[in-house]
Amino acid sequence: MIKWKDKREFWITGAKLADPEAGKIKSGSVLIQKGRISELAWQGAVQSDLPQLDIGGLVLSPGFIDIHTHLREPGYEEKETIETGTAAAAAGGYTAVVCMANTEPVVDDPSIVKFILEKSAQVSHCRVYITAALTRNLEGVHINEYHLLREAGAVALSDDGKFVVDSRVMRSALEYARIYNLPVIAHCEDTFLTAGALMNESYSSTRLGLKGTPAAAEEIAVARDVRLAELTGSRLHVAHVSTAGAVELIKKAKRKGVPVTAEASPHHLTLDDTMLETYDRNLKVNPPLRDKKDIEALRSGLREGTIDCIATDHAPHTEIDKQVEFDFAPPGIMGLETAFAQLNTELVDGVEFSLVDLIRLLTIKPAQTLSLPGGKLARGEPADLVLIDPDEEWVLEKAALRSKSSNTPLLGKKFRGRVQGVFLEGKWESAIL
Ligand code: DOR
Ligand code: ZN
Repeated sequence: MIKWKDKREFWITGAKLADPEAGKIKSGSVLIQKGRISELAWQGAVQSDLPQLDIGGLVLSPGFIDIHTHLREPGYEEKETIETGTAAAAAGGYTAVVCMANTEPVVDDPSIVKFILEKSAQVSHCRVYITAALTRNLEGVHINEYHLLREAGAVALSDDGKFVVDSRVMRSALEYARIYNLPVIAHCEDTFLTAGALMNESYSSTRLGLKGTPAAAEEIAVARDVRLAELTGSRLHVAHVSTAGAVELIKKAKRKGVPVTAEASPHHLTLDDTMLETYDRNLKVNPPLRDKKDIEALRSGLREGTIDCIATDHAPHTEIDKQVEFDFAPPGIMGLETAFAQLNTELVDGVEFSLVDLIRLLTIKPAQTLSLPGGKLARGEPADLVLIDPDEEWVLEKAALRSKSSNTPLLGKKFRGRVQGVFLEGKWESAIL
């Protein structure tokens, strides 16, 4: 496979081509020329003198797009860097990520946007888009200079990790973001209700003696922010939705025509709060893992389109960060390298979710959510592609992780379905081959 690395013009034959727009997987071949898809042949043999790479029935899909990644650089390079975070992304099948603003310094100035873009151009293994901060230093007091941040290259705005407590500030942020046509990504938690909380408020939190936060803390914040989106007519995207009540609120807002979208993370779609019995700090995350009814509501929200897409909230932390009492461990779970396999294993049963449904939620849907290019299998599109074996069984091992961190509760877990690697502008980025 390696010998294909430097070929710039070739056919990929023998593929099962996933077309997320059409919702179909069909046998076919793709011609890659100058980093783009220049031809698609849905059936039959390819008549061409160009080299042919027969991938033997594996699935070839547009590369995944993660609209919620913490790359940590600048400032927290001990957890992750642009280089390692994008290597993890490529290993997980992603050809583009949108990185979050809670770095040090915060992405609240065009110079930081430029730094990330320039560094990415040198070292990254996938495309990098940037979310800039809504407010100065994520303090929720002064809104940033959105036009300058957009000019520098930011594609969205968010104080993710922190809730904008002051409703007046959030209103202005939405109003100004609308002028510059930037979506606002909301981190929704009523911080008075979440103060000191370590997990979901439930029977489990009582049993474990860990302070819980109620689902209402998220729902109060979602209700406020969708109401402000309605008031301002601005595009609001709700990050990491985790409760059934939040899904209901978003559904109602969408029915009313409020310009709101939402994402769910792989961990909130598959893991529940009873798993915290082990006090594994790698299960500590914000918002916290909820209960089985919430998971069911998130899954049906995804099926019916209330939740638009899946985003990882890849939040790397070092072992030392996490090797403290549960109370002191920072919240966060890595997701880029496990999202596809975890979701293919847990969600894709051919009844509720098919493989192409999952692929749609990882490609065209996130692209549409933030108005990004990509996610399409079509002539003229960049050859950003992921090669998948949906049946390979494998075990997640720490040594194989490309991320600088390993804070995932999934180490040692057996999965079905594995990303083999990605083509980025037609260039092979190997994951395991
Ligand atoms: O668990 C989380 N970790 N949730 C957030 O909102 C922020 C993130 C981080 O930056 O570590
Ligand atoms: Zn986040």
